[in-house]
Amino acid sequence: MEILDQVPELRAAIAAQRRAGRSIALVPTMGNLHAGHHSLIAVARRHADFVVASVFVNPTQFGPNEDFARYPRTPDADAAGLDRHGCDALFVPAVPTLYPFGSEAAVRVHVPGISDVLDGASRPGHFDGVATVVARLFNLVQPDVAVFGRKDYQQLLVIRRLVDDLAFPIRILGAPIVREASGLALSSRNQYLSPAQRDQAAAIHGVLQWMRGQVAGHATPLAAIEAEAVRQLAAAGFDPDYAVIRRGEDLGTPEPERRDGLVALVAARLGSTRLIDNLELG
Ligand code: PAF
Repeated sequence: MEILDQVPELRAAIAAQRRAGRSIALVPTMGNLHAGHHSLIAVARRHADFVVASVFVNPTQFGPNEDFARYPRTPDADAAGLDRHGCDALFVPAVPTLYPFGSEAAVRVHVPGISDVLDGASRPGHFDGVATVVARLFNLVQPDVAVFGRKDYQQLLVIRRLVDDLAFPIRILGAPIVREASGLALSSRNQYLSPAQRDQAAAIHGVLQWMRGQVAGHATPLAAIEAEAVRQLAAAGFDPDYAVIRRGEDLGTPEPERRDGLVALVAARLGSTRLIDNLELG
């Protein structure tokens, strides 16, 4: 696996693959890679000849009081894991490489609407930072396909909208959530949890499954299911941010009778760690 940190060498590596007629996949990450990320590489491998991963802890998507400074950085383990899982090239830019005018002065991309609800409301500017860095990575790598995890369901919708509206010729693939045996969705932020909190955190998946059962049962209004889910999360020791049932395509509030194409989404704090998860309801 090639490891590249400069734009000219990245462009040269991609151009060589293009000349050889190979298709390119991009898997953007913030590093501290786990089995969830490795599954994205596997999806990328199935859809393109040459797989590029990026590892970049993107300052523009962290709020002033968020965990940018303490976000886990494990470059050697990341490179070894990517290599083992069949990644062909790893792009590890420094901040000035992606933001030559400084991250504060960067040209920003705002995807209206979808960026402003749920996590966007709780983390103002977060999705602008995501769209901003992903647009840069798309321009630098110019992949045929790009793979993102479905755990960040809202992020996936933001990126799909970004690509559709700015006409990036890139196919966006959403890869299934990878879970521990307990049901806890894999996340780099899980390592902020104590062993006891980690056990407790599995309750989020339990609540999502309960929500799915209630929606399938048709009897209870969605708002009542959401309210009870929030209550259950609080009873399990979380500080819930939201537990909602939304339209899968745009996270809008579903029409009262609608029961198909929905997604249940939860965000909740355990101590100082904010966890998100979701379940697509078929
Ligand atoms: O999902 C992530 O890890 C990040 O938000 C992404 C897409 C790599 C952008 O920094």
